[in-house]
Amino acid sequence: MKITIFGTGYVGLVTGTCLADVGHDVMCMDVDANKIARLRDGEIPIYEPGLESLVRDNVASGRLRFTTDATEAVAFGTLQFIAVGTPPDEDGSADLQYVLAVADTIGEHMQEYKVIVDKSTVPVGTADRVNEAVGKAIARRGETLGFDVCSNPEFLKEGAAIEDFTFGARIVIGTDSERVKELMRECYAPYNRQHEKLMFMDVRAAELTKYAANAMLATKISFMNEVANLAERLGADVEQVRHGIGSDPRIGYQFIYPGCGYGGSCFPKDVQALARSASDVDYHAELLTAVEAVNQRQKQTLFTKLSQAFDGDLAGKTIALWGLSFKPNTDDMRDAPSRVLMEAVWNAGGRIQAFDPEAMKECRRLYGERDDLTLVADRIQAVKGADALVICTEWKEFRTVDFDWVKGNLATPVIVDGRNLYDPQAVKRAGLLYFAVGRGDSM
Ligand code: UGA
Repeated sequence: MKITIFGTGYVGLVTGTCLADVGHDVMCMDVDANKIARLRDGEIPIYEPGLESLVRDNVASGRLRFTTDATEAVAFGTLQFIAVGTPPDEDGSADLQYVLAVADTIGEHMQEYKVIVDKSTVPVGTADRVNEAVGKAIARRGETLGFDVCSNPEFLKEGAAIEDFTFGARIVIGTDSERVKELMRECYAPYNRQHEKLMFMDVRAAELTKYAANAMLATKISFMNEVANLAERLGADVEQVRHGIGSDPRIGYQFIYPGCGYGGSCFPKDVQALARSASDVDYHAELLTAVEAVNQRQKQTLFTKLSQAFDGDLAGKTIALWGLSFKPNTDDMRDAPSRVLMEAVWNAGGRIQAFDPEAMKECRRLYGERDDLTLVADRIQAVKGADALVICTEWKEFRTVDFDWVKGNLATPVIVDGRNLYDPQAVKRAGLLYFAVGRGDSM
């Protein structure tokens, strides 16, 4: 099947590469010529385990190609996936200018029937707007051509995108057209062998499914962070509570890890955009607003704990920081809790000495060269000469620690753990003060 993907960002590149890998003919289009040139050389602009070799293999096999030429891209695929960015507007709503620009391009160049597939996360009602934009562009040329627009949201996690694409729990497709259903069935047939994963539904239901899924997961996290804050004040250990409630299959163990707040390009943006959509239809989304507010507050907790450990005086202190990315297995620092911590430490006159297995280049890009930021080669170097240690991301290599060594190398025996990685007793035995999240007796 011939497929065109607009946008070679995270979602577009993973979608295009995976579809090529199961035998489809895929053309990825991007307006960024530099990015396309690099992709043609098999160099990928993001860190995603397994993606680079998959891109190379599929480019080599001729099934995956890249272009900046819109005419060529529109002519290529029967399916035209829109996978461009939807950054938040100033008011929190999703900015649709890139999505609608692609719709316009498709309408301007198409010569035969096309299915336009909304893959980007877009507010309910966007398919109607895409429909309108494509129709207008065709009409501008004085033509009448058939096309359909469907919604096909993605549920990929950064760091596990290829696996999620291949073994995802469901494939949601919003359409009322039999022709679209048939084409989408053909597109996803290689992923639909084990059991029926295709879920056909109304376009608006599909669009809302994406937001509802992310908002539900974000709600679980904020709820658990609220419980952690309560546990801390009531003298209970939230980790024991987590085990206690997770064992109930109605609650489950997933996404109830308390921590220093959720980040990334999706949860913060999508929760805000859904709340904004609600207010657009005169509904105040009480819960969504609270989920976001709890998360904002949670991102401050590491600094609050650190500051308390130093009686509010962090001036001239060097803070060792393990983990910069918003979660492990990515170099993404968008809305990362580490940024809130670093910026607060700098405002208080302190310095950061950080290590992250993947995100240091990104950190440098964001903050540039500055005297109060040192990026070091490994976690050991980060601790040497520092006053205290803070953990923001649960990279695998941070899970085991020689606490005696840490104690011997920190000027002040303080660990602030934003991910509850360690046994509080083991940390304490080494003579360190341990500030975790929601662990009443750990301080
Ligand atoms: C999320 C969703 O999980 C995907 O299903 C969705 O497709 C994607 O957004 C998207 O909309 O594109 P992602 O942002 O890659 O994926 O990251 P997650 O693994 O879901 O983690 C999000 C944040 O929640 C991280 O900051 C993580 O540290 C935090 N988290 C997660 C917790 O604090 N506690 C938990 O128990 C789980």
